[in-house]
Amino acid sequence: TRRTLLKGSAATATAFAVGAGFAARAPNAAASVPVLKAQFADIRIAADGITPKVMSYARGDTAATGMPPVLRMTRGQPFSTRLLNALDEPTTVHWHGLRIPNAMDGVPELTQPYVYPGDSFDYAFTPPDAGTFWYHPHCNTLTQMGHGLTGMIVVENPDDPVFDAEIVLNLRDWRLGAGGAFIAPFKPRDAARGGTYGTVRTANWQQEPRYDAPAGGLVRVRIAATDVTRIYTLALDGSPATIIALDANPLDTPIPLDRLDLSPGQRVDLVIRMPDSEGAAVTLRNVRGSTPFTIATFRATGTSLKRALGDVRPLPPNPLAEADLSKATRIPLDFTATAEHAPAPSLCGTLGYTFWAINKVPWPGDTPDPVAPLADLKLGKSYVLQVANRTPHAHPIHLHGMSFRILNSNKRTFLPPPTDTILLLPDERAELGLVADNIGDWVLHCHIIEHQKTGMTGYFRTV
Ligand code: C2O
Ligand code: CU
Repeated sequence: TRRTLLKGSAATATAFAVGAGFAARAPNAAASVPVLKAQFADIRIAADGITPKVMSYARGDTAATGMPPVLRMTRGQPFSTRLLNALDEPTTVHWHGLRIPNAMDGVPELTQPYVYPGDSFDYAFTPPDAGTFWYHPHCNTLTQMGHGLTGMIVVENPDDPVFDAEIVLNLRDWRLGAGGAFIAPFKPRDAARGGTYGTVRTANWQQEPRYDAPAGGLVRVRIAATDVTRIYTLALDGSPATIIALDANPLDTPIPLDRLDLSPGQRVDLVIRMPDSEGAAVTLRNVRGSTPFTIATFRATGTSLKRALGDVRPLPPNPLAEADLSKATRIPLDFTATAEHAPAPSLCGTLGYTFWAINKVPWPGDTPDPVAPLADLKLGKSYVLQVANRTPHAHPIHLHGMSFRILNSNKRTFLPPPTDTILLLPDERAELGLVADNIGDWVLHCHIIEHQKTGMTGYFRTV
C-alpha cells in the first residue's frame, strides 16, 4: 500500500518527491475540487479599528471572515484545491516546504502562469512528508503576504503519537497606522538593512491570544513564522516543553526548549507539558531584540492528566534521501549587498530598488525573462551548497522543492533535522548537503521579503 511504501527506502521517497501519485488535471475538469478563494475582507486586527482590504483566503466560494484556513492534508494522500483569484491583481500559491512536483510550486513565469483576477488554477499533489508547513502567494509578495496571505498547513502522519491537544500558531506582524489602515509596506532604508518591521504583532491574527489546554496534559503546538521580516527568538515561561520537529522534520531525540530562533519561513513543533493546577498559565514569548513581547498564553483547565514530558515518543522521520558527500559537487553561493541595476517591471510588482545579489547577480523580478539558473543540477546527484553571507545582516535562505541538511557552519552548531530554510547569521558560512531529487526550476531566496524582492533570489534547474 502507499503507506507501506512511504515507510520504505530513500528510493521510494525519491519516487514520491518527483511526483508519483500526482495526477495532472485539466483546468475546470473536476467541478468538485474544493475552492481556495483569495479575496479582500475588512477585518479587525488592531484594537483601534477595522482594517480595510485585508487579503485572506476562504475555503469554498465564500467570504473570508478571518485568517486563512489551516489546510489539513495527510502524508501520502492526494490533495487538491482550486485557487480562485478574487483580488484585483495576479496571484499564485506556493506550498512552503512541501516537496511536490514543480508545476505545483506556484512561482509565476518559472513554474506556472499568473492567475489573473477572476481566473482560477488547480493545484493537485501528494505531500510526501508530514509536519508543519505553510502557504503564501509568490507574486507581489511584500503586499500580498504583508496584507494577510500567509496560512498554515498541517500534514498529518497517521503514525504520529497522539497528544492531549493541538494548537496551531501563525506568527506575523502587520504594518498598520492610526485607525487600523495599512501603511507603506516598507522603508527603502530598512529594506537595505534588516527589513522593515510591522507595527502590530499577532498570533493567529490576534494580539496576545489565550488558549485553554488540559491541565497536566501534553499539547502539541505547531508554530510558523510567516512574517515578512521578523526573526523571533521563542521562549516559554510557566512550564517545560520539548522540541519535537523543526521545519517539519522530527528530531530523533526531542530536546528541551530553552530559546529557539525562528526566522521567516521556519516552523517548530513543540510539546508543552501543561501545569497541573487549573488556571495556571504558560506564556510563549519573543525574547529577541530590546523589547521582548508576549506572543500567546495557554491556560490549564480541568483536573490534571498527569502526563510526563519524558513519555513523548519521537515522531516518525520523513522519507528524505541522504546526500553522498564523497561524490557531491560543490556549489558556492555568495549572498552580497549590491547597488547597481534598476529592477525590471513585473506583473508581480517591484519595490523599485535593488539592494542584494546572489553570486553577484541581482534577481530582476518575476519577468518573462528570468536570469539564468544559479546552477544546473542532475536528477539524483548529490550537492553541497557552500553558502556565504557576506553582509552584516541575517538572511533566512529558503530553497523550494528539496530539503537539505546543514553540514557545518563557521559560527555554530545546528540541531540535526533537515530543513528548507536556514537562518544565515551575519558573516556566517555554512555547507548544505542535498540530493537533487525533484525535477524542475527551484527558487532559492531570502525569506525577508524585502530582500527577496530587491535582488536576493535565484533558482536551480534540476534535469
Ligand atoms: Cu515561503 Cu519562495 O517561499
Ligand atoms: Cu535577507
